Amino acid sequence: MLKLYDLTIEYKTNPLGLDEVQPRFSWKLQSDRNGVRQIAYRLTVSNGEVMWDTGRVESEQSILIEYMGALFEARTAYTWTVTVWDNHGESAEANASFETGLLSGAAFEGKARWITHGLNKEDTASPIFTKSFTVSKPVAKARLYATALGLYEAEVNGQKADDTFFTPGWTSYHKRLQYQTYAVENLRQGENELRVTLGKGWYSGALGFTPIPNHYGDTTALLAMLIVTYADGSEEVVGTDESWTVSAGAIRFSEIYDGETQDFTLPGQPVGKAQAFDRGFETLVAQENEPVRCLMTLPVAKEFTAPNGEHLFDFAQNLTGWVEVKITGNPGQKIVLRHAESLDENGNFYTGNLSFAKATDTYILNGEEQTLRPHFTFHGFRYVCLEGLEEGQAIELTACHLSSDLKPAGSFSCSDPRINRLQQNIVWGQRDNYLDVPTDCPQRSERLGWTGDATAFTPTAVFHQNVAPFMRKWLRDLAADQDPATGAPQVVPDVLSDGATGGQNGAAYWGDVATVVPWTLYETYGDKRVLSEQYESMKIWAEFIRRQCGENGLWQSGFQYGDWLGLDTEANGLADERKGATDDYYVANCCYLWTLQIMADTAKVLGNDEDEAFYRELREQVLAAFREEYVTKTGRLVSETQTAMTLALHFGLVEEKDRAAIAARLEQNIAAHKTHLTTGFIGTPYLCLALSDNGKHELAGKLLLQEENPGWLYEVKMGATTIWERWNSIMPDGSFNPANMNSLNHYAYGSIGYWLYTRLCGLQRLEPGFKKFTVAPRFMKGITHAALSYESVYGTIKTAWRCENGVITVDLTVPANATALLTLPEKDETLTLGSGVYHYEYPTETRLEQDRYTLETLLRVVLEHPVAKPILEQYMPQMLDNPMIEYVKNEPISSLLAYAAEAKPLYEMILKAMNESGI
Ligand code: BGC
Repeated sequence: MLKLYDLTIEYKTNPLGLDEVQPRFSWKLQSDRNGVRQIAYRLTVSNGEVMWDTGRVESEQSILIEYMGALFEARTAYTWTVTVWDNHGESAEANASFETGLLSGAAFEGKARWITHGLNKEDTASPIFTKSFTVSKPVAKARLYATALGLYEAEVNGQKADDTFFTPGWTSYHKRLQYQTYAVENLRQGENELRVTLGKGWYSGALGFTPIPNHYGDTTALLAMLIVTYADGSEEVVGTDESWTVSAGAIRFSEIYDGETQDFTLPGQPVGKAQAFDRGFETLVAQENEPVRCLMTLPVAKEFTAPNGEHLFDFAQNLTGWVEVKITGNPGQKIVLRHAESLDENGNFYTGNLSFAKATDTYILNGEEQTLRPHFTFHGFRYVCLEGLEEGQAIELTACHLSSDLKPAGSFSCSDPRINRLQQNIVWGQRDNYLDVPTDCPQRSERLGWTGDATAFTPTAVFHQNVAPFMRKWLRDLAADQDPATGAPQVVPDVLSDGATGGQNGAAYWGDVATVVPWTLYETYGDKRVLSEQYESMKIWAEFIRRQCGENGLWQSGFQYGDWLGLDTEANGLADERKGATDDYYVANCCYLWTLQIMADTAKVLGNDEDEAFYRELREQVLAAFREEYVTKTGRLVSETQTAMTLALHFGLVEEKDRAAIAARLEQNIAAHKTHLTTGFIGTPYLCLALSDNGKHELAGKLLLQEENPGWLYEVKMGATTIWERWNSIMPDGSFNPANMNSLNHYAYGSIGYWLYTRLCGLQRLEPGFKKFTVAPRFMKGITHAALSYESVYGTIKTAWRCENGVITVDLTVPANATALLTLPEKDETLTLGSGVYHYEYPTETRLEQDRYTLETLLRVVLEHPVAKPILEQYMPQMLDNPMIEYVKNEPISSLLAYAAEAKPLYEMILKAMNESGI
């Protein structure tokens, strides 16, 4: 039977407060038959009266169908119904709803005005705005529309208006300010009360490495209106104006970095009447992304006393959020909670990596039973240090994990629990850093929308959550904050350009976020509008780079981050320990070529032939100049770092004939580092991809499984529960890397997820939105099964493989309206599959279980093994007598092979014999 599900409008399910003039409708098909395709649909939209009826449209299109009906009215509920016919002669129907928002900020005109509090500038208390009003007729519907300069929490009759936090979100406030819509369900006949509390938040709170307040203004302000529609059809508006009263309540201090102080011993302090505040409505837009919610709560895993006597709580997970405290205190008793990500090597509370952030919440109790939480701050923490508790006094702490509430999209697991932990760390890192904007980290005095981090991680992130609305909002702020003269800001929203990096030119990879993220969204969701909407912003970035280029057509000037945090710093000749060895401008030109490729492809999608031709031609020229400058006549790269070779291979910058040799030198480089990577932010996301795609897949697998520093599993082995900023954020001896920039919750290196899903599981899109995709699992030693589930815009794709006990099994689920090309491991043919559930099973001689002895085994171990000795005596007698052997005994075989590749087959034979011996 054919069924429809997941009906969305602009990616949202039955949204309230939708302000798109021409929103887009999507649905998914489900059927118990195979090979299902939609052949026609009919869409109707109505609010009693029919606004749009497409009639039967012969089309496969089931995503992002643009509304073409009559103009919507503001604050109006609509239902939409879709009927679908499939190629098996079945049909199905489903409906969903949405309610428009104000459609324009001007709707506040004459109904509400901006108000502010009148507290002294030095007073750090959070103002509370209150208004009482009477309801005297039966209510049909009530909606609250609200926003603030600052952060706000609204309450109706003492109840929080909904379960969201950090409204109105963080945007480029002077250009775009979101308002929220709330369905108010708890009005009562008679007296009612609206209360809104303001915090400084991102608007006027301190932000930046050396925190500076008032980036957008020094006065918080409120704009709100409650519109009550009575059963008799009449309407009443309670809007903000000078009749609202202002008081100061318990919140005496609140800053995102520093935390919050609440004092419950002070009586509510009347301040006076609200004051009019001068600000227009033109910048208002309806909430675009998903709101921040408490996605889960975590109990205390361990309560203990640290060696230095401090009272600590461990939540066993590094997370973004805050702690809810339940306590019955003495009047005036002060409870202090400090937050940290880690303990130091002695087991004491460690806050050395928080920079200027105090991350401290303070409560002065009133003597009653109280349940407390902060309102306008958040912390990145795993541990809490509690002060002020009395001997024997009970307290209950619960951690709330706060994050933008994106729709989940997928999951991955495999046979190795360490990789599963790594994958969880990647996903935690995403949720921890998706707090209204994609941030670099949630704990220190930064927490900014760093662009380069998003360039690295977004292609991975799309496999975990539907990031379309979240990123679209952020991209609009990027465009809003872009200045053609500087190309692209370093952080979005841009709070640095009025401080340390004022007027700084955009840097490679960081600025490329302007092209990479829209393109990733297009590829993932088939969303062309994001490309047309961002096109100008993309072009500003591409044109900025073009203007930076010298006569040779290459970008070789200005500040660059280079291969940020790459480990091969010894060779970079720079004082900055944060930069890898790869030449800054080599990196910049690789990125430029990537952006030019995206520009040409985007112009093509948008049907802009002229631009397409222009960017293709420009790319050819830049590529020729790149080869002239950075590739020798014989096909070697002038920079032979892991990152340089990775970028050349991954972005297709070298001639086909040179590929194999470059891949071989990359392999050599890794072997010379004893199977360790040295890559930073730029090389890491593509390192394993470049290896797998250039005949070195096994090596990619070894890097993945490397447990020694540096490597993904080193962090896991050290107990990481998120992805670290640095490969060696915590040193092998357990001490914290003292570098002043060191967070345990940065997601860039989580980009290995992309390799797990697209290479190990082998899921890659062929057409936007995964309308057509390939599944080609790639086995690796040490992993015997892996499974991926991914919710595409056409429905759920599931792929799982297993290679155990001489049998290979592959399972695949293809959603309706999509086609898969499946390449079964160890089989040559590729199957073309329509929707359905498929299972394959066949014998194999392959054993993927990790052998005891591998090329990573030390030579000493081989020499001492009884089975190895006779083989060596037979084939390499001279080696055993060579006195030099003493110097390399403690090297793994792989690093010896870096200098004597011809010995590889012999060592493989020996290792096989050793493994088979069972000794
Ligand atoms: C941030 C990074 C960011 C970088 C730019 C750091 O302070 O945390 O992740 O990309 O600065 O260099």
